[in-house]
Amino acid sequence: MASTTQTEISERFALSRDLHPERVATFAQDVRAGLGARPYALSPKYFYDDLGSSLFEAICRLPEYYLTRVERDLLATYGRAIVAAFREPLELVELGSGSALKTKLIIEAILERQPQLTYHPIDISPDALVESSLALIAANDRLRVSAHASDYYTLLRERRLTTRDRVLALYLGSNIGNFQPAESRALLELVSATLQPGDGLLVGYDLKKDAQILEAAYSDATGVTAAFNKNLLGRINRELDGDFDLDAFRFRATYDMRRGAVDSFLVSERRQTVRIGGAGLHVPFSVGETIHTESSFKFSREEIVALARRCGFAESKTFTDAGARYALTLFTVER
Ligand code: AVJ
Repeated sequence: MASTTQTEISERFALSRDLHPERVATFAQDVRAGLGARPYALSPKYFYDDLGSSLFEAICRLPEYYLTRVERDLLATYGRAIVAAFREPLELVELGSGSALKTKLIIEAILERQPQLTYHPIDISPDALVESSLALIAANDRLRVSAHASDYYTLLRERRLTTRDRVLALYLGSNIGNFQPAESRALLELVSATLQPGDGLLVGYDLKKDAQILEAAYSDATGVTAAFNKNLLGRINRELDGDFDLDAFRFRATYDMRRGAVDSFLVSERRQTVRIGGAGLHVPFSVGETIHTESSFKFSREEIVALARRCGFAESKTFTDAGARYALTLFTVER
């Protein structure tokens, strides 16, 4: 069991967080595994330190990155219908809540139907959690927040989430796209095991489409996504005593139609060796050698429904925009 601290920040906001030393140890271990053997790879879960979370917020405002905007519009249009599919009182759980800007729409729809609500956001970034939770409780005096600063996979596996009422779980922002197919299945099984029959799960995912549109969404003209990726190297420099020269790498994103995933890479511009003291590594790069930083999987509705069905979820309804770019599928636990 991971060690955690529990802090009651206000009467309506409690935060439990995984202790720092363990997170650093895990980062060093994962960097050692990812850069200690070829082909090089780093996990996207390390994008989200304070700076990385801010860069991600900027990505969400890019004209090319339509995902956030379309999802927000879908939640604004269909939020009430989604919530009305359940008997109150509801409790709300969110995997990977980030800034929780879109969640506000669901919270408000629930509070139209019941006097109080407890919201359990789970996110890897404690800064984002504190900021978003404080804003939410300030805006809604009938809301309580019980936040977990943790990797949601670990938190669910260790059964550290406790709820009492009917649960609506949110898994938004195309976060499911960051997992390999076998991992998404394992995660959905874990979510299913955490929920009771009749509970709900709302999944937001990016639909398969033209490679051009997808690649533009991940290789924006302003270079924000490149900076977001390079921050992984900056974070290694800051936290693990690395000496990456961020100017010696460029960024590339390509859509692999066969797997249905956009793959992101940092590409070495020259032959170089990078030293990472905190991971005990010397990492050699040839010209053009890559570090894989992220896969962003795209799905058809049928694929998501089939995946979730194997984990005990039945499709209740799917909502999509007129351009069929993005979808929300509402599931209920049936087993
Ligand atoms: C937060 C994982 C959904 O894959 O679209 C955005 C992260 N990376 N631009 C995604 C991301 C580059 C994003 N997810």
